[in-house]
Amino acid sequence: MKSFPLEPIEKAGVDELRALQLKRLKSTLRHAYRNSPAYRRKFDAAGVHPDDCRSLGDLAKFPFTTKHDLREHYPFGMFAVPREQCVRIHASSGTTGKPTVVGYTRNDIDTWSHVMARSLRASGARPGELVHVSYGYGLFTGGLGAHYGAEKLGLTVVPFGGGQTERQVQLIADFKPDIIMVTPSYMLAIADEFERQGLDPAKSSLRLGIFGAEPWTNDMRTAIEQRMGIEAVDIYGLSEVMGPGVANECVETKDGPTIWEDHFYPEIVDPDTGEPVADGELGELVFTSLTKEALPIIRYRTRDLTRLLPGTARTMRRMEKITGRSDDMMIVRGVNVFPSQIEELILKRMELAPHYLCILTRDGPMDALTVAVEVRHDVAHESHAAREAARLLAHEIKTYIGTTAQVELRAAGGIERSLGKAKRVLDQRPRT
Ligand code: DLL
Repeated sequence: MKSFPLEPIEKAGVDELRALQLKRLKSTLRHAYRNSPAYRRKFDAAGVHPDDCRSLGDLAKFPFTTKHDLREHYPFGMFAVPREQCVRIHASSGTTGKPTVVGYTRNDIDTWSHVMARSLRASGARPGELVHVSYGYGLFTGGLGAHYGAEKLGLTVVPFGGGQTERQVQLIADFKPDIIMVTPSYMLAIADEFERQGLDPAKSSLRLGIFGAEPWTNDMRTAIEQRMGIEAVDIYGLSEVMGPGVANECVETKDGPTIWEDHFYPEIVDPDTGEPVADGELGELVFTSLTKEALPIIRYRTRDLTRLLPGTARTMRRMEKITGRSDDMMIVRGVNVFPSQIEELILKRMELAPHYLCILTRDGPMDALTVAVEVRHDVAHESHAAREAARLLAHEIKTYIGTTAQVELRAAGGIERSLGKAKRVLDQRPRT
């Protein structure tokens, strides 16, 4: 592959990077305090002032921002610029209550496009290639975020969006894109549709997939790479911090997304106490934006669980592939269980397809977990082989995760397909 020059900051030493971060952090704190009454109130209540930030470590003195803060100031109350200076609004629906609304100035859109273009380049995309975007367009940041970054890097974009799976396959077959950007779960649905149409997905023109917006395991990466005959890299982001492109894996190492630390400062904190933990330790990821204008975000609690790792392909630090969100963590009879742990075990069984749903019910005073999982399309779900796979899966869940689960086999197509982010947990326990 032709080598492509990195930006100077991607090659800068750690000292240069930290100096830039501190300069930008100070100016972000001042901007938030001066121009967003909501931040000023939060800082005053916590007894801190932007002048108290003299080193990057001083950031820990500042209060966290949560989804609750954004909802409380719905829709535009946290903005640090007049709404008229925003050129775009996005929102994430969330599962309950009001959406969280985010805004972007023209400079913010430029910054976002820039980090997205950098993400695409790190993924191995090159100017002139054709990219098929199946992330949803609209209020979700996936589609437009990918779109602007791809245009900026000089790619040709097919702005398909989510849904109409049959047509997605037709256009991929006809237009012959090099790259696809889509959630990993929807990639699987597209792969199924290839096969339904009698096409081998591994023989498509695609050579690279840039997958994110939901947790996916390394085993899922291998499964997708083999089935589609592509390289699969991980892209991470969230609307409150910017959108996709906060961090992205480098294709040459595929060892967890590199955080674009010149724009987004990461911390890991203990999810219970909020105390920062050292690099390498597992905890909740917290981000502070360093260059955003419309909605500076200070110590945003992402609820995503991961650890910070040293840089490899770049100087900037990486995050370990996300295990899950604290919201998705199921507590089954006292044992913490993440859907990603179940996914890893499902992918080990040849007879099973990685379409699954974890269903929580209550059996008297006890929680009960049922894992509904599809058999592969060439396996009969009543067959001995399928039943044996289910038995082994239940056994491994007990052995490796430590919880009892009922495995319920479904025929191929028996789990509802998502067109974007997959829903992995269905909690049917009565609310107490
Ligand atoms: O999902 C932005 C995005 C779009 C990222 C397209 C990547 C690709 P939100 O809808 O605000 O934004 O959801 C953000 O999704 O806090 C994580 O829990 C989850 N998430 C995003 N990327 C990944 C990933 C977009 N690569 C929330 N791995 C985040 C695991 C991810 N989880």
